[in-house]
Amino acid sequence: MSQQERWQLGGNAPEVYERYLVPAIFRPWAPILIAQAMLQAGERVLDVACGTGVVARLAAQHVGASGHVTGLDISDAMLALGQRRCVDLSGAGRASFIKADATALPFADSAFDVAVSIQVYEYVADLPTALVELHRVLRPGGRVLILDTDWDSIVWHATDTEQMGRLLAAWIERFADPYLPRTLARRLRDAGFQVDRRDVLVLLNPEYDPDTYSVANGELMADFAVTQGRLTRHEVDAWTQDLHRLGEEGRYFFSLNRYLFLAHR
Ligand SMILES: C[S@@+](CC[C@H](N)C(=O)[O-])C[C@H]1O[C@@H](n2cnc3c(N)ncnc32)[C@H](O)[C@@H]1O
Repeated sequence: MSQQERWQLGGNAPEVYERYLVPAIFRPWAPILIAQAMLQAGERVLDVACGTGVVARLAAQHVGASGHVTGLDISDAMLALGQRRCVDLSGAGRASFIKADATALPFADSAFDVAVSIQVYEYVADLPTALVELHRVLRPGGRVLILDTDWDSIVWHATDTEQMGRLLAAWIERFADPYLPRTLARRLRDAGFQVDRRDVLVLLNPEYDPDTYSVANGELMADFAVTQGRLTRHEVDAWTQDLHRLGEEGRYFFSLNRYLFLAHR
């Protein structure tokens, strides 16, 4: 798969995702998300755009041998990582993976008790169709947990604020809706859901550390800005060096909000 195809899919380059983002974000957050979803033994769970399968794996462990998790994604590369992560559970019939689009779910009506969707709908252009599909495949009373970012919530210290602005402006072109959380409750209701809860998870990186989200994702952001022709390689290198220097001087700061929605059919 070419780099351009990866961006178009909305998936971060899977190997980068696996190497940096999974440890930086999902090790701490996945248990929080699973707790919020209140999974019960025996439940049938759908992970919409499961990516590398971190949440799918934890969900399968929570619903136990009598439950089942289905991981769905549009990217073969992501699905391969998810399948590898869950190979033991799949072998035991407790997890399965399928390639499909979030706007055309290949499942019967009421097939699931719970759905989770982490960092996905902000990439989906036809959100009304995706949410109606989600509603259809959940049983009446079935629950959904959605997490998405509002990219206006980013606070990232840089010496050259104009350049930082251009980099961020380039980055949000990846998303169908970079500000989805502010309208998601209304959209969920329009699709027939009842919204039960909204919350925020804050990604705070107050130090420069290559193993944190902001530094790891910064590499992807820099590459994307160059791919799009919005910044030159020279400019993104200067930006990267500036972040590193701010870190050395004890002046690094990054914060970003992700919004959690719990709803039911
Ligand atoms: C930022 S990743 C999140 C992956 C995973 N949910 C996680 O939190 O680790 C976005 C995922 O959405 C998938 N994706 C994007 N658009 C999709 C669509 N229309 N249908 C299904 N999957 C999609 C990508 O392949 C990618 O795996």
